[in-house]
Parts: sequence; C-alpha cells; structure tokens
Amino acid sequence: MEQQELVREILRLKEERRAVILAHSYQRPEVQDIADFVGDSLGLSREATRTDADVIVFCGVHFMAETAAILNPEKTVLLPDLEAGCSLAETINPEDVRAWREQHPDGIVVAYVNTSAAVKAMADICCTSANAVEVVASLPEDRPIFFVPDMFLGAHVERVTGRKLDIWLGECHVHAGIRSEDLAAQLAAHPDAEFLIHPECGCSSTCIFLRPDAKLLSTEGMVRYAAQSAAREFVVATEVGILHRLHQKAPGKRFIPVREDAICHYMKRVTLEKVYESLRDLKYVITVPEEIAVPARRALEAMLALG
Ligand code: 13P
Ligand code: SF4
Repeated sequence: MEQQELVREILRLKEERRAVILAHSYQRPEVQDIADFVGDSLGLSREATRTDADVIVFCGVHFMAETAAILNPEKTVLLPDLEAGCSLAETINPEDVRAWREQHPDGIVVAYVNTSAAVKAMADICCTSANAVEVVASLPEDRPIFFVPDMFLGAHVERVTGRKLDIWLGECHVHAGIRSEDLAAQLAAHPDAEFLIHPECGCSSTCIFLRPDAKLLSTEGMVRYAAQSAAREFVVATEVGILHRLHQKAPGKRFIPVREDAICHYMKRVTLEKVYESLRDLKYVITVPEEIAVPARRALEAMLALG
C-alpha cells in the first residue's frame, strides 16, 4: 500500500475500533503525523489516563505501552512491534531493586519510567525526565533513596536538589553516545545558538562547564522552550526524532543536532505499515499481570498525583 492509502486505512480503522493513537516524539515523522497525541513520557502517561477510547495504539517502546496498560486495565493497549524495547530499561531487573531494599529496609525507590513493569512494581514512586527533580525533592530527607536506572539523570537530580542518592549505573546507548567532544564541536560552530540537552545524555554532567546556560529538559520541555524563546537557533542534544516536532512547534527556527546519528532504532521499529496491521489485527496486545500491575500502578499514581 502507498503512504496515502495507508494513512486513509489507519484513520478508517481507528474510527471502527474506537482507538486513539499516542506517539512519542522520537517516532518517525509520518507516524507522529497520524497520532492523536504526541509527547514525552510524562505527557503520554497523562494522556493514557484521560482517553475514553476502547483501544490505545502506542507508537513508542514496550515500557511505554506497559505503562498505558497498567493505567488502563480495562482498555486494549497495542504495541505495533514487539521488538521495540529500550536499552536503558534492560539494564535493571526486579532482583537488583530487591537486593538494595534488603540492605536499606527504610529506603525509598524512585523508578524512572524507562523500566519494566516488574521494576516499577518494586518502586515507591516513578518519575520521568520532566519531573524527576520535583519527585525527589518531594521525598523525606531522612531516608535513603535509590534512583534507578539512569545514572546521568540521577546525577542531574542530585546536582539540582542537593540530595544524596544511591544511583543505579544504567544508561541509554543513544544518549550515552552523545559525547562531550561532539558537544564542544557543535557549540563552537554555533556560538549564538541556545543549547537544549536531555538529562539522559552522557555529557549532561560536563555540559554546564561548556555552557553554563544549558537547558536540561525533557523532550516536551525542549519543544515548549524553543516555541517561546526569542532565539532563532538551537543546538539540540537528544534523539533526532525530536527535530520533526521542534520544526512543527517552532517554525522558522533552526535546530542543529549534536549528532545526526543519535537514532533510537527501537523507536524507529514502528512504521505506518505496522500501525495499520496493529489496528487491523488488534496486535500486539500488551498486558501486565495483576500482581505486578497493582504495585506498579501505585508507583505511577504517586508520580501523577504530584501534578
Ligand atoms: P522523555 O520523552 O520523557 O524526555 O524521555 C526520553 C526517552 O528517552 C524516552 O525513551
Ligand atoms: Fe530507551 Fe534510549 Fe531509546 Fe529512549 S532513546 S527508548 S531511553 S534506548
């Protein structure tokens, strides 16, 4: 099928199935364009709680679809490609969290949403890159905190809140691959550009020495910032799927990726063809067993309750 016909069929099936399509900002441009809602992990979690559709087609990666399924046990949640995983979520399993808990019976576990449902079930509260600082700042000061699994986001939260955290040494291969040398070269080439960087980046700890005015933001935070800023040019350190959304929401401005090859192949597994097949055949249904979903929902709702 040609692209136009695929889009027509997706829209027709969407009506027929009473479905909503949610897409992360790292998705392919043509997938973002057919979505009802495009956003960051926090926006997508919120949107998943608001929809009255019967079916949610999640154009993103597995942990995001699991989050939608946990928050909507009565809805059908579909992930168009089961291989859409996440290298960061893979770095930790529930046993790792259990081992820390055994050593710290009064400890609090904060799980970044880039984790499996089973890890979320072991956590007290979840966070995303948009609210990690706020989540940690809301916790009691006299108890140990385990922040999992992203070490660079954890270090950013420590710097901003001044809190001491136990941090799991996990990283996302895409963001860890954006190195200080790449950053220094792009910033030198574009001295007047504003600088937007995702806190998952390996160089997010050193970037403040290169550019003290760096804006460490979630993907949606970048879109919002670029749309309202008076600047015309931005150096952007994150997965390059965000550029499509930046161009849409801040038209006429120039966005320079720190690395053009910062591509998450998991995110790109979802194609229009697979979205069509997903709606046609109602596949692949993502479910989370009750014994995991109940405690994981508690941790997600604790985060969402912070507003
Ligand atoms: P946000 O969309 O929450 O900024 O997260 C980025 C990410 O890596 C999602 O996989
Ligand atoms: Fe996971 Fe990194 Fe891909 Fe985000 S960009 S889904 S953290 S592998």
